[in-house]
Amino acid sequence: MNKVLVIGSGGREHAIADALHRSPQVTEIFCAPGNAGTAAIATNVAIKDTDVAGLLQFAKDQKVDLTVVGPEAALAVGIVDAFRAEGLKIFGHTQAATQIESSKEFAKKLMLKYGIPSAAYESFEDYDAALAYVSTRPFPAVLKYDGLAAGKGVVIAETLDEARDALKSMLLDTTYGKGKVIVEDFLTGPEFSFMCFVDRDNVYPMPLAQDHKRAFDGDKGPNTGGMGAYTSLPFITEEDRKFAYDNILCKTAKAMNEEGTPLSGVLYGGLMKTPTGIKVIEFNARFGDPETEVVLPLLESDIYDIFMAVATGTTPSQTPKWSDEVTMGVVLASKGYPGSYEKGHVISGLENVEDTVFHMGTVRKEGTLMTNGGRVLMVVSKGANHTEAKARVYSEIDKIHCDNLFHRNDIAHWAL
Ligand code: AMP
Ligand code: GLY
Repeated sequence: MNKVLVIGSGGREHAIADALHRSPQVTEIFCAPGNAGTAAIATNVAIKDTDVAGLLQFAKDQKVDLTVVGPEAALAVGIVDAFRAEGLKIFGHTQAATQIESSKEFAKKLMLKYGIPSAAYESFEDYDAALAYVSTRPFPAVLKYDGLAAGKGVVIAETLDEARDALKSMLLDTTYGKGKVIVEDFLTGPEFSFMCFVDRDNVYPMPLAQDHKRAFDGDKGPNTGGMGAYTSLPFITEEDRKFAYDNILCKTAKAMNEEGTPLSGVLYGGLMKTPTGIKVIEFNARFGDPETEVVLPLLESDIYDIFMAVATGTTPSQTPKWSDEVTMGVVLASKGYPGSYEKGHVISGLENVEDTVFHMGTVRKEGTLMTNGGRVLMVVSKGANHTEAKARVYSEIDKIHCDNLFHRNDIAHWAL
């Protein structure tokens, strides 16, 4: 019987731990650092997700059979390389393969070289050259900072003034050190997330999902980490899905193999259905959050079997099987999020909720559950169709009480 360590502390990690909890092969789950939700099915361990030495020592001491990495930060600091060097089994990409997410230029170069459809781009380190280029191009301009600088990420500039400000902060401001900027063509169309388990060029697809990034109904307000998600996307045909699987996900896995940086974890394609076909907006080297919370509840196969096969370069005993049901998940976030918000508000009523609740940012103090983050809870319901799942999820949310939470009321509006 097997012990598993899950690294991370969000709703994604709660959903991963929940899927592992359903595995008949798993007897004990640790979560580092975890949250109040994972504490119900796992033992939380107070080690930070990027403390590689601490996590390695813990895995050795506890004789953990398999470690599963949630966040990108842990992958980017080389946790997989460190565990493997000591002969420990771990699900996640090496530091070199993680560049597909951590370096936008690495990803763009790879796509260009292997003919993987994406927006045309140029990259710049020089502010004047970048500004001169942008001023000759149509607006909006898509500017992407290449490098780890939280918050600077992507700017869609509507005017030359906006582009100038963004380029200044990305290339002249020294707060984050000297960077590089990718200037990309602006694409239009619905976005969706296609995640796959990948071991070298073996690619096992998960159901498609769509995230809702804006804070408020009608896709208004500031960008967030995601306010809700659902599966089964009516605007993506089976032909579209097959195209994306063959020409984007499988092709990328093959390309990474040929480049000597094989994948061994989740490849997340952030894709857009544009008028000229499906294109890559971004890749992530990990499970998406909040997509994972609506996707993994549909898995009918044993996730330990899949994680172990990918971690050891073997074939799962069964091709992953998924339920045909529809899932819908709504995030309850702290008022003020994604700006500043308060923590420590009491949450009650969870004991009356019948469907799944994943904790994103919670803490239990002397037995009382409290808010402890921007995104706090995600309620996930299943149904035969979107109408059914939506009715369920919003009636479940009504049972939860807290004076400092808000949520969107229009999750899955693209499908309804
Ligand atoms: P990224 O961090 O690359 O996912 O970008 C964040 C968001 O910016 C995406 O989810 C898109 O909504 C938008 N975006 C990024 N690249 C483009 C593009 N080339 N055209 C239009 N929108 C984009
Ligand atoms: N839902 C987007 C992400 O995980 O990056």
